[in-house]
Amino acid sequence: MAANRPVALVTGASSGVGKETARALVDAGFDVVGTSRKAAGDTTGGVTFLPLDVTSDDSVSSLVQQVIERFGRIDVLVNNAGVGANGAAEEISVAQAQYLFDVNVFGLMRMTNAVLPHMRGQGRGRIINVSSVGGFVPNPFMAIYVATKHAVEGYSESLDHEVREQGIRVLRVQPGPINTPFDQNTEGADPSGAAASDASGSVPTPKVMASPGKSSTQGTATSATPSDKLPAHGEAPPAGSPTSGGPGGSTTTRHAGTRGPGER
Ligand SMILES: NC(=O)c1ccc[n+]([C@@H]2O[C@H](COP(=O)([O-])OP(=O)(O)OC[C@H]3O[C@@H](n4cnc5c(N)ncnc54)[C@H](OP(=O)(O)O)[C@@H]3O)[C@@H](O)[C@H]2O)c1
Repeated sequence: MAANRPVALVTGASSGVGKETARALVDAGFDVVGTSRKAAGDTTGGVTFLPLDVTSDDSVSSLVQQVIERFGRIDVLVNNAGVGANGAAEEISVAQAQYLFDVNVFGLMRMTNAVLPHMRGQGRGRIINVSSVGGFVPNPFMAIYVATKHAVEGYSESLDHEVREQGIRVLRVQPGPINTPFDQNTEGADPSGAAASDASGSVPTPKVMASPGKSSTQGTATSATPSDKLPAHGEAPPAGSPTSGGPGGSTTTRHAGTRGPGER
């Protein structure tokens, strides 16, 4: 039976942005289903939690079927579930990059494909894709994450043109840094060291960062200061480091007002 109130489905509602979004939608008068890989059908703060792993076709179709059976409709889908990866691009293995794309991009597409037929049948709906400032701004040492968010941008904008005449709009949200558990769930450099190697073998991130002039992507850098760790989220890199943007800094094109390394 269809619910009287509009129904919103928020992926990755167990923490951070998704948790707050689900709460805000409850306050705005929605029946809200939130998802987590650990959910067991409980209701917390007005949000009904159902299990979902966006990397699984079966999990996605089972979730959407359950929501339709229980609530009869889906008016808003918030594709929020996402994971990060920090490290020099060459240090993130292809397997790690595939995982990131599976969650951030293909997971979002799986959810969208499962929900669209229902929205089309209703003649209306909103799909809100949580992108990032990294969806339109380059960010050294987060290249894979940024690539996933650029993909989200292109997909979302194109899809919006496909479905808007059917009463459905696809929107993007592009947050800057927010204090959430995101960093704890972020992939680091491939621990096997297999992703990046030179003649001497594996090249851990600090070495990559402190190798000015070795790589064509680091231009004429000459005065880099080795750093023990990547700059924390929102933290300025050490002066003169390859990521400082100063002398010897990154050759990445920076636009006025854009964010620095470590910022997503
Ligand atoms: N925090 C920031 O600074 C920031 C900035 C820009 C954009 N964003 C974006 O905001 C979104 C949320 O990030 P957050 O900061 O709130 O991070 P978070 O607190 O780590 O939350 C991530 C959520 O994604 C879910 N998730 C992870 N893998 C999943 C999978 N395979 N299937 C289903 N759900 C999965 C997690 O749920 P379970 O582990 O419970 O399954 C969790 O609820 C992400 O898309 C992120 O890229 C964040």
